[in-house]
Amino acid sequence: MSAPTRGGWASRFGFIMAAAGSAIGLGNIWKFPYMTASHGGGAFLVVYLVCVFVFGISLLLAELVLGRMAKRNPIGAFRKLAGGAWPAVGALGVVTALVILSFYVVVSGWAMAYFVYAVEGTLTTASSGELNALFGHLVSSPIVPLIYAALFVLLTAVVVIGGVAGGIERMAKLFMPLLFIILILLMVRSLTLPGAGRGLVFFLHPDWSAIDGHLISAALGQAFFTLSLGVGGMITYGSYMADTQDLGRDALSVVALNTMVSLLAGLMVIPAMISAGITPDAGGPGTTFKVLPTVFAAMPAGNLFGIGFFFLLILAALTSSVSLLEPVVSFFVDEYRMKRANATVIGASFCFALAIPVSLSFGIWHHIQLFGLTIFKLMDFLTSNLALPIGSLMTALCVGWVVRRAAVDELSNHGRIAAGWAPIWLFFIRYIAPIGIVWILVQGLFGL
Ligand code: PHE
Repeated sequence: MSAPTRGGWASRFGFIMAAAGSAIGLGNIWKFPYMTASHGGGAFLVVYLVCVFVFGISLLLAELVLGRMAKRNPIGAFRKLAGGAWPAVGALGVVTALVILSFYVVVSGWAMAYFVYAVEGTLTTASSGELNALFGHLVSSPIVPLIYAALFVLLTAVVVIGGVAGGIERMAKLFMPLLFIILILLMVRSLTLPGAGRGLVFFLHPDWSAIDGHLISAALGQAFFTLSLGVGGMITYGSYMADTQDLGRDALSVVALNTMVSLLAGLMVIPAMISAGITPDAGGPGTTFKVLPTVFAAMPAGNLFGIGFFFLLILAALTSSVSLLEPVVSFFVDEYRMKRANATVIGASFCFALAIPVSLSFGIWHHIQLFGLTIFKLMDFLTSNLALPIGSLMTALCVGWVVRRAAVDELSNHGRIAAGWAPIWLFFIRYIAPIGIVWILVQGLFGL
Protein backbone atom coordinates (compact mmCIF):
# COMPACT_ATOMS: atom_id res chain seq x y z
CA MET A 1 0.00 0.00 0.00
CA SER A 2 1.21 3.46 -0.75
CA ALA A 3 1.36 5.83 2.17
CA PRO A 4 -1.68 8.09 2.11
CA THR A 5 0.46 11.21 1.87
CA ARG A 6 2.19 10.21 -1.36
CA GLY A 7 -0.60 11.32 -3.69
CA GLY A 8 -1.42 9.95 -7.13
CA TRP A 9 -2.67 10.93 -10.58
CA ALA A 10 -6.34 11.81 -10.72
CA SER A 11 -6.89 10.24 -14.15
CA ARG A 12 -5.23 8.34 -16.95
CA PHE A 13 -5.31 11.41 -19.20
CA GLY A 14 -3.76 13.38 -16.37
CA PHE A 15 -0.88 10.92 -16.12
CA ILE A 16 -0.23 10.98 -19.87
CA MET A 17 -0.22 14.76 -19.92
CA ALA A 18 2.08 14.95 -16.90
CA ALA A 19 4.50 12.32 -18.24
CA ALA A 20 4.41 13.88 -21.71
CA GLY A 21 4.85 17.21 -19.95
CA SER A 22 7.97 15.85 -18.29
CA ALA A 23 9.32 14.51 -21.56
CA ILE A 24 8.39 17.51 -23.69
CA GLY A 25 10.45 20.50 -22.73
CA LEU A 26 13.64 22.34 -23.52
CA GLY A 27 15.07 19.02 -24.67
CA ASN A 28 12.75 19.09 -27.67
CA ILE A 29 12.53 22.78 -28.45
CA TRP A 30 15.89 24.15 -27.39
CA LYS A 31 18.32 21.23 -27.44
CA PHE A 32 17.11 18.92 -30.19
CA PRO A 33 17.29 21.48 -33.04
CA TYR A 34 20.83 22.64 -32.31
CA MET A 35 22.11 19.15 -31.58
CA THR A 36 20.67 17.94 -34.87
CA ALA A 37 22.08 20.92 -36.74
CA SER A 38 25.56 20.55 -35.32
CA HIS A 39 25.65 16.80 -35.94
CA GLY A 40 24.94 16.86 -39.63
CA GLY A 41 21.13 17.07 -39.76
CA GLY A 42 19.31 14.04 -41.17
CA ALA A 43 21.89 11.48 -40.05
CA PHE A 44 21.52 12.55 -36.44
CA LEU A 45 17.73 12.53 -36.79
CA VAL A 46 17.73 8.92 -37.99
CA VAL A 47 20.07 7.65 -35.27
CA TYR A 48 18.13 9.59 -32.66
CA LEU A 49 14.84 8.03 -33.80
CA VAL A 50 16.38 4.56 -33.75
CA CYS A 51 17.60 5.19 -30.18
CA VAL A 52 14.15 6.38 -29.12
CA PHE A 53 12.46 3.29 -30.51
CA VAL A 54 15.06 0.68 -29.55
CA PHE A 55 16.10 1.97 -26.13
CA GLY A 56 13.64 4.72 -25.23
CA ILE A 57 10.37 2.80 -25.26
CA SER A 58 11.75 -0.23 -23.44
CA LEU A 59 13.42 1.86 -20.77
CA LEU A 60 10.44 4.11 -20.27
CA LEU A 61 8.41 0.97 -19.61
CA ALA A 62 11.11 -0.35 -17.27
CA GLU A 63 11.05 2.84 -15.18
CA LEU A 64 7.26 2.97 -15.04
CA VAL A 65 7.14 -0.70 -14.03
CA LEU A 66 9.69 -0.18 -11.25
CA GLY A 67 7.83 2.85 -9.96
CA ARG A 68 4.39 1.31 -9.98
CA MET A 69 5.57 -1.92 -8.38
CA ALA A 70 7.44 -0.20 -5.59
CA LYS A 71 5.31 2.92 -5.13
CA ARG A 72 8.42 4.65 -3.96
CA ASN A 73 11.00 7.26 -4.95
CA PRO A 74 13.85 5.95 -7.17
CA ILE A 75 16.20 5.04 -4.33
CA GLY A 76 13.44 3.39 -2.29
CA ALA A 77 12.19 1.54 -5.37
CA PHE A 78 15.56 -0.07 -6.08
CA ARG A 79 15.94 -0.93 -2.40
CA LYS A 80 12.49 -2.53 -2.18
CA LEU A 81 12.64 -4.49 -5.44
CA ALA A 82 16.30 -5.42 -5.73
CA GLY A 83 18.16 -4.58 -2.51
CA GLY A 84 21.95 -4.91 -2.30
CA ALA A 85 23.86 -2.09 -3.95
CA TRP A 86 21.01 -1.28 -6.38
CA PRO A 87 19.72 1.77 -4.46
CA ALA A 88 22.96 3.44 -5.62
CA VAL A 89 21.40 3.54 -9.11
CA GLY A 90 18.50 5.54 -7.69
CA ALA A 91 20.95 7.81 -5.89
CA LEU A 92 22.91 8.43 -9.09
CA GLY A 93 19.60 9.38 -10.71
CA VAL A 94 18.59 11.80 -8.01
CA VAL A 95 21.98 13.54 -8.15
CA THR A 96 21.89 13.62 -11.96
CA ALA A 97 18.41 15.14 -11.86
CA LEU A 98 19.71 17.97 -9.67
CA VAL A 99 22.65 18.63 -11.99
CA ILE A 100 20.40 18.69 -15.05
CA LEU A 101 17.99 20.96 -13.24
CA SER A 102 20.81 23.39 -12.53
CA PHE A 103 21.36 24.10 -16.23
CA TYR A 104 17.71 23.61 -17.08
CA VAL A 105 16.72 26.57 -14.93
CA VAL A 106 19.37 28.76 -16.54
CA VAL A 107 18.03 28.10 -20.05
CA SER A 108 14.45 28.43 -18.79
CA GLY A 109 15.52 31.78 -17.38
CA TRP A 110 16.61 32.82 -20.89
CA ALA A 111 13.12 31.87 -22.10
CA MET A 112 11.64 34.14 -19.45
CA ALA A 113 13.91 36.99 -20.54
CA TYR A 114 12.82 36.45 -24.15
CA PHE A 115 9.19 36.49 -23.07
CA VAL A 116 9.84 39.94 -21.62
CA TYR A 117 11.63 41.03 -24.84
CA ALA A 118 8.63 39.84 -26.85
CA VAL A 119 6.22 41.77 -24.63
CA GLU A 120 8.40 44.88 -25.05
CA GLY A 121 8.36 44.39 -28.81
CA THR A 122 12.15 44.16 -29.09
CA LEU A 123 12.24 40.88 -30.98
CA THR A 124 10.35 41.44 -34.21
CA THR A 125 12.07 44.71 -35.00
CA ALA A 126 15.60 43.35 -34.60
CA SER A 127 17.85 42.31 -37.49
CA SER A 128 19.80 39.06 -37.55
CA GLY A 129 22.92 40.76 -36.27
CA GLU A 130 20.99 42.47 -33.51
CA LEU A 131 19.38 39.19 -32.48
CA ASN A 132 22.80 37.63 -32.20
CA ALA A 133 24.03 40.47 -30.06
CA LEU A 134 20.89 40.41 -27.92
CA PHE A 135 21.39 36.75 -27.07
CA GLY A 136 25.11 37.18 -26.41
CA HIS A 137 24.46 40.17 -24.20
CA LEU A 138 21.80 38.36 -22.15
CA VAL A 139 23.63 35.12 -21.47
CA SER A 140 26.98 36.71 -20.74
CA SER A 141 25.75 39.23 -18.19
CA PRO A 142 26.47 38.08 -14.65
CA ILE A 143 23.30 39.04 -12.80
CA VAL A 144 20.21 39.25 -15.06
CA PRO A 145 20.10 35.59 -16.16
CA LEU A 146 20.50 34.52 -12.55
CA ILE A 147 17.54 36.62 -11.47
CA TYR A 148 15.42 34.92 -14.12
CA ALA A 149 16.80 31.51 -13.14
CA ALA A 150 15.93 32.20 -9.51
CA LEU A 151 12.42 33.14 -10.57
CA PHE A 152 12.12 29.91 -12.49
CA VAL A 153 13.39 27.82 -9.57
CA LEU A 154 10.74 29.51 -7.45
CA LEU A 155 8.00 28.68 -9.97
CA THR A 156 9.14 25.06 -10.06
CA ALA A 157 9.13 24.86 -6.28
CA VAL A 158 5.63 26.35 -6.05
CA VAL A 159 4.22 23.73 -8.44
CA VAL A 160 6.01 20.87 -6.69
CA ILE A 161 4.72 22.03 -3.30
CA GLY A 162 1.24 22.09 -4.86
CA GLY A 163 1.46 18.30 -5.07
CA VAL A 164 1.11 15.68 -7.75
CA ALA A 165 -2.47 15.93 -8.95
CA GLY A 166 -3.17 19.48 -7.81
CA GLY A 167 -0.01 21.08 -9.17
CA ILE A 168 1.73 19.17 -11.93
CA GLU A 169 -1.18 17.32 -13.47
CA ARG A 170 -3.56 20.28 -13.60
CA MET A 171 -0.99 22.53 -15.26
CA ALA A 172 0.09 19.95 -17.84
CA LYS A 173 -3.48 19.16 -18.88
CA LEU A 174 -4.20 22.78 -19.59
CA PHE A 175 -1.10 23.94 -21.43
CA MET A 176 0.41 21.04 -23.36
CA PRO A 177 -2.34 21.06 -26.02
CA LEU A 178 -1.87 24.81 -26.55
CA LEU A 179 1.85 24.33 -27.06
CA PHE A 180 1.14 21.84 -29.80
CA ILE A 181 -1.04 24.27 -31.71
CA ILE A 182 1.42 27.13 -31.60
CA LEU A 183 4.29 24.86 -32.70
CA ILE A 184 2.32 23.80 -35.76
CA LEU A 185 1.60 27.39 -36.74
CA LEU A 186 5.24 28.43 -36.36
CA MET A 187 6.42 25.39 -38.29
CA VAL A 188 4.18 26.24 -41.22
CA ARG A 189 5.57 29.78 -41.37
CA SER A 190 9.15 28.60 -40.98
CA LEU A 191 8.77 26.09 -43.80
CA THR A 192 7.45 28.75 -46.16
CA LEU A 193 10.31 31.20 -45.62
CA PRO A 194 12.55 31.84 -48.61
CA GLY A 195 15.39 29.32 -48.66
CA ALA A 196 13.64 27.01 -46.20
CA GLY A 197 13.77 24.13 -48.70
CA ARG A 198 17.51 23.71 -48.20
CA GLY A 199 16.97 23.50 -44.47
CA LEU A 200 14.30 20.88 -44.95
CA VAL A 201 16.65 18.76 -47.03
CA PHE A 202 19.40 19.18 -44.44
CA PHE A 203 17.02 18.08 -41.66
CA LEU A 204 15.38 15.17 -43.42
CA HIS A 205 17.97 13.86 -45.85
CA PRO A 206 20.58 11.80 -44.02
CA ASP A 207 24.20 12.14 -45.00
CA TRP A 208 25.32 8.70 -43.79
CA SER A 209 28.97 9.64 -43.79
CA ALA A 210 28.31 11.96 -40.84
CA ILE A 211 27.64 8.99 -38.56
CA ASP A 212 30.44 8.21 -36.14
CA GLY A 213 30.76 7.11 -32.53
CA HIS A 214 30.48 10.67 -31.34
CA LEU A 215 27.20 11.24 -33.19
CA ILE A 216 25.69 7.96 -32.01
CA SER A 217 26.52 8.62 -28.40
CA ALA A 218 25.13 12.17 -28.64
CA ALA A 219 21.93 10.79 -30.19
CA LEU A 220 21.56 8.20 -27.44
CA GLY A 221 22.06 10.84 -24.75
CA GLN A 222 19.49 13.05 -26.45
CA ALA A 223 16.99 10.16 -26.63
CA PHE A 224 17.29 9.56 -22.89
CA PHE A 225 17.28 13.25 -22.05
CA THR A 226 14.17 13.96 -24.08
CA LEU A 227 12.24 11.02 -22.60
CA SER A 228 13.32 12.00 -19.08
CA LEU A 229 15.04 8.63 -18.63
CA GLY A 230 17.97 7.62 -16.47
CA VAL A 231 17.27 9.91 -13.53
CA GLY A 232 14.35 8.07 -12.00
CA GLY A 233 11.85 10.78 -12.94
CA MET A 234 9.66 8.23 -14.64
CA ILE A 235 10.08 5.83 -11.71
CA THR A 236 8.66 8.57 -9.56
CA TYR A 237 5.82 9.33 -11.99
CA GLY A 238 5.09 5.60 -12.31
CA SER A 239 4.83 5.35 -8.55
CA TYR A 240 1.78 7.62 -8.67
CA MET A 241 -0.01 5.47 -11.30
CA ALA A 242 -3.12 3.45 -10.63
CA ASP A 243 -2.65 -0.33 -10.70
CA THR A 244 -5.28 -0.68 -13.40
CA GLN A 245 -3.58 1.62 -15.92
CA ASP A 246 -2.26 -0.03 -19.08
CA LEU A 247 1.45 0.76 -18.91
CA GLY A 248 2.27 -0.28 -22.48
CA ARG A 249 -0.39 1.86 -24.09
CA ASP A 250 0.37 4.87 -21.95
CA ALA A 251 4.13 4.66 -22.50
CA LEU A 252 3.60 4.55 -26.25
CA SER A 253 1.38 7.62 -26.11
CA VAL A 254 4.07 9.51 -24.23
CA VAL A 255 6.81 8.52 -26.69
CA ALA A 256 4.60 9.39 -29.68
CA LEU A 257 3.70 12.84 -28.34
CA ASN A 258 7.30 13.58 -27.40
CA THR A 259 8.66 12.50 -30.78
CA MET A 260 6.08 14.59 -32.59
CA VAL A 261 7.10 17.69 -30.67
CA SER A 262 10.80 17.12 -31.42
CA LEU A 263 10.04 16.74 -35.12
CA LEU A 264 7.86 19.85 -35.10
CA ALA A 265 10.59 21.80 -33.32
CA GLY A 266 13.18 20.63 -35.83
CA LEU A 267 10.93 21.64 -38.69
CA MET A 268 10.30 24.97 -37.03
CA VAL A 269 13.91 25.88 -36.22
CA ILE A 270 16.21 24.29 -38.81
CA PRO A 271 14.70 25.64 -42.05
CA ALA A 272 14.44 29.10 -40.49
CA MET A 273 18.04 28.80 -39.36
CA ILE A 274 19.27 28.09 -42.87
CA SER A 275 16.98 30.76 -44.25
CA ALA A 276 18.49 33.28 -41.80
CA GLY A 277 21.97 32.33 -43.01
CA ILE A 278 23.20 30.77 -39.77
CA THR A 279 25.54 27.87 -40.48
CA PRO A 280 24.28 24.73 -38.73
CA ASP A 281 27.51 24.19 -36.84
CA ALA A 282 27.61 27.69 -35.46
CA GLY A 283 24.16 27.74 -33.87
CA GLY A 284 24.86 26.15 -30.49
CA PRO A 285 22.68 26.65 -27.42
CA GLY A 286 21.52 30.02 -28.74
CA THR A 287 19.95 28.61 -31.90
CA THR A 288 16.26 28.57 -30.97
CA PHE A 289 16.53 31.99 -29.38
CA LYS A 290 18.33 33.59 -32.31
CA VAL A 291 16.29 31.98 -35.07
CA LEU A 292 12.68 32.12 -33.95
CA PRO A 293 12.40 35.91 -33.84
CA THR A 294 13.14 35.90 -37.58
CA VAL A 295 10.09 33.65 -38.01
CA PHE A 296 7.94 35.93 -35.86
CA ALA A 297 9.10 38.93 -37.87
CA ALA A 298 7.87 37.26 -41.05
CA MET A 299 4.36 36.69 -39.66
CA PRO A 300 1.36 38.91 -39.35
CA ALA A 301 0.92 39.66 -35.65
CA GLY A 302 4.38 38.17 -35.20
CA ASN A 303 4.88 39.77 -31.85
CA LEU A 304 1.82 38.03 -30.47
CA PHE A 305 3.24 34.74 -31.70
CA GLY A 306 6.49 35.58 -29.95
CA ILE A 307 4.71 36.31 -26.69
CA GLY A 308 2.62 33.14 -26.99
CA PHE A 309 5.58 30.98 -27.94
CA PHE A 310 7.86 32.02 -25.09
CA PHE A 311 4.98 31.80 -22.63
CA LEU A 312 4.33 28.21 -23.68
CA LEU A 313 8.05 27.38 -23.76
CA ILE A 314 8.29 28.49 -20.15
CA LEU A 315 5.36 26.24 -19.30
CA ALA A 316 6.81 23.29 -21.22
CA ALA A 317 10.06 23.80 -19.33
CA LEU A 318 8.14 23.99 -16.08
CA THR A 319 6.32 20.69 -16.60
CA SER A 320 9.79 19.15 -17.11
CA SER A 321 11.62 20.95 -14.33
CA VAL A 322 9.04 19.78 -11.80
CA SER A 323 9.82 16.22 -12.84
CA LEU A 324 13.50 16.86 -12.19
CA LEU A 325 12.79 18.18 -8.71
CA GLU A 326 10.14 15.58 -7.88
CA PRO A 327 12.52 12.56 -7.52
CA VAL A 328 14.56 14.53 -5.00
CA VAL A 329 11.48 15.65 -3.09
CA SER A 330 9.85 12.21 -3.06
CA PHE A 331 13.12 10.78 -1.76
CA PHE A 332 13.13 13.11 1.25
CA VAL A 333 9.39 12.62 1.82
CA ASP A 334 9.49 8.80 1.61
CA GLU A 335 12.77 8.13 3.35
CA TYR A 336 12.99 10.87 5.93
CA ARG A 337 9.26 11.54 6.42
CA MET A 338 10.08 15.16 5.65
CA LYS A 339 7.29 17.61 4.88
CA ARG A 340 6.84 18.10 1.14
CA ALA A 341 7.40 21.85 1.44
CA ASN A 342 10.64 21.49 3.40
CA ALA A 343 12.00 18.88 1.01
CA THR A 344 11.21 21.16 -1.92
CA VAL A 345 12.97 24.14 -0.38
CA ILE A 346 16.12 22.09 0.25
CA GLY A 347 16.19 20.65 -3.29
CA ALA A 348 15.44 23.99 -4.94
CA SER A 349 18.12 25.86 -2.97
CA PHE A 350 20.75 23.32 -3.82
CA CYS A 351 19.84 23.48 -7.47
CA PHE A 352 20.01 27.26 -7.56
CA ALA A 353 23.45 27.20 -5.96
CA LEU A 354 24.60 24.92 -8.79
CA ALA A 355 22.94 27.15 -11.39
CA ILE A 356 25.22 30.07 -10.50
CA PRO A 357 28.47 28.63 -11.98
CA VAL A 358 26.49 27.32 -14.98
CA SER A 359 25.12 30.74 -15.80
CA LEU A 360 28.47 32.46 -15.26
CA SER A 361 30.10 29.98 -17.63
CA PHE A 362 28.36 31.79 -20.51
CA GLY A 363 30.07 35.03 -19.47
CA ILE A 364 32.75 35.93 -16.98
CA TRP A 365 33.61 32.30 -16.21
CA HIS A 366 33.81 31.26 -19.83
CA HIS A 367 37.54 30.71 -19.48
CA ILE A 368 37.13 28.11 -16.71
CA GLN A 369 37.33 24.89 -18.69
CA LEU A 370 38.00 21.21 -18.13
CA PHE A 371 38.89 18.99 -21.12
CA GLY A 372 38.14 22.06 -23.26
CA LEU A 373 34.56 22.22 -21.96
CA THR A 374 32.97 25.14 -20.10
CA ILE A 375 31.07 24.41 -16.87
CA PHE A 376 27.77 24.27 -18.78
CA LYS A 377 29.14 22.00 -21.49
CA LEU A 378 30.78 19.76 -18.92
CA MET A 379 27.54 19.35 -16.97
CA ASP A 380 25.63 18.68 -20.16
CA PHE A 381 28.21 16.13 -21.29
CA LEU A 382 28.50 14.38 -17.93
CA THR A 383 24.73 14.04 -17.61
CA SER A 384 23.55 13.34 -21.18
CA ASN A 385 26.52 11.36 -22.42
CA LEU A 386 27.42 9.49 -19.24
CA ALA A 387 25.02 9.58 -16.30
CA LEU A 388 21.78 9.07 -18.27
CA PRO A 389 23.06 6.11 -20.33
CA ILE A 390 24.71 4.55 -17.25
CA GLY A 391 21.56 5.05 -15.14
CA SER A 392 19.47 3.51 -17.92
CA LEU A 393 21.91 0.63 -18.37
CA MET A 394 21.72 -0.22 -14.67
CA THR A 395 17.93 0.11 -14.70
CA ALA A 396 17.73 -2.31 -17.63
CA LEU A 397 20.00 -4.80 -15.85
CA CYS A 398 17.99 -4.57 -12.65
CA VAL A 399 14.60 -4.95 -14.31
CA GLY A 400 15.77 -7.56 -16.81
CA TRP A 401 17.83 -9.76 -14.54
CA VAL A 402 16.67 -9.15 -10.97
CA VAL A 403 12.99 -8.18 -11.10
CA ARG A 404 12.29 -10.23 -14.27
CA ARG A 405 9.01 -12.16 -14.10
CA ALA A 406 7.42 -9.83 -11.61
CA ALA A 407 8.05 -6.99 -14.07
CA VAL A 408 6.33 -8.89 -16.87
CA ASP A 409 3.40 -9.58 -14.54
CA GLU A 410 3.19 -5.91 -13.72
CA LEU A 411 2.99 -5.08 -17.44
CA SER A 412 -0.05 -7.29 -17.88
CA ASN A 413 -1.49 -5.72 -14.72
CA HIS A 414 -1.24 -9.15 -13.12
CA GLY A 415 -3.19 -10.84 -15.85
CA ARG A 416 -5.89 -8.17 -16.09
CA ILE A 417 -4.91 -7.25 -19.66
CA ALA A 418 -3.36 -9.29 -22.44
CA ALA A 419 0.22 -8.05 -22.85
CA GLY A 420 1.44 -10.58 -25.39
CA TRP A 421 4.38 -8.38 -26.34
CA ALA A 422 5.77 -8.32 -22.79
CA PRO A 423 8.28 -11.17 -23.43
CA ILE A 424 9.67 -9.21 -26.39
CA TRP A 425 10.06 -6.23 -24.12
CA LEU A 426 11.87 -8.40 -21.55
CA PHE A 427 14.24 -9.60 -24.27
CA PHE A 428 15.06 -5.98 -25.15
CA ILE A 429 15.62 -5.08 -21.52
CA ARG A 430 17.78 -8.12 -20.80
CA TYR A 431 19.96 -8.16 -23.89
CA ILE A 432 19.48 -5.46 -26.52
CA ALA A 433 19.45 -2.44 -24.21
CA PRO A 434 22.46 -3.39 -22.03
CA ILE A 435 24.63 -4.52 -24.95
CA GLY A 436 23.59 -1.59 -27.13
CA ILE A 437 24.16 1.02 -24.43
CA VAL A 438 27.58 -0.35 -23.46
CA TRP A 439 28.63 -0.47 -27.12
CA ILE A 440 27.51 3.12 -27.70
CA LEU A 441 29.16 4.37 -24.51
CA VAL A 442 32.45 2.82 -25.57
CA GLN A 443 32.16 4.27 -29.08
CA GLY A 444 31.37 7.70 -27.67
CA LEU A 445 34.23 7.73 -25.20
CA PHE A 446 36.96 6.13 -27.25
CA GLY A 447 35.77 7.14 -30.69
CA LEU A 448 35.30 5.19 -33.88
N1 PHE B 1 12.80 15.51 -20.87
C1 PHE B 1 13.05 16.84 -20.48
C2 PHE B 1 13.20 17.69 -21.73
O1 PHE B 1 13.32 17.18 -22.80
C3 PHE B 1 14.25 16.99 -19.59
C4 PHE B 1 14.28 16.01 -18.46
C5 PHE B 1 15.34 15.13 -18.36
C6 PHE B 1 13.25 15.96 -17.54
C7 PHE B 1 15.38 14.18 -17.36
C8 PHE B 1 13.27 15.01 -16.52
C9 PHE B 1 14.31 14.12 -16.45
O2 PHE B 1 13.25 18.88 -21.67
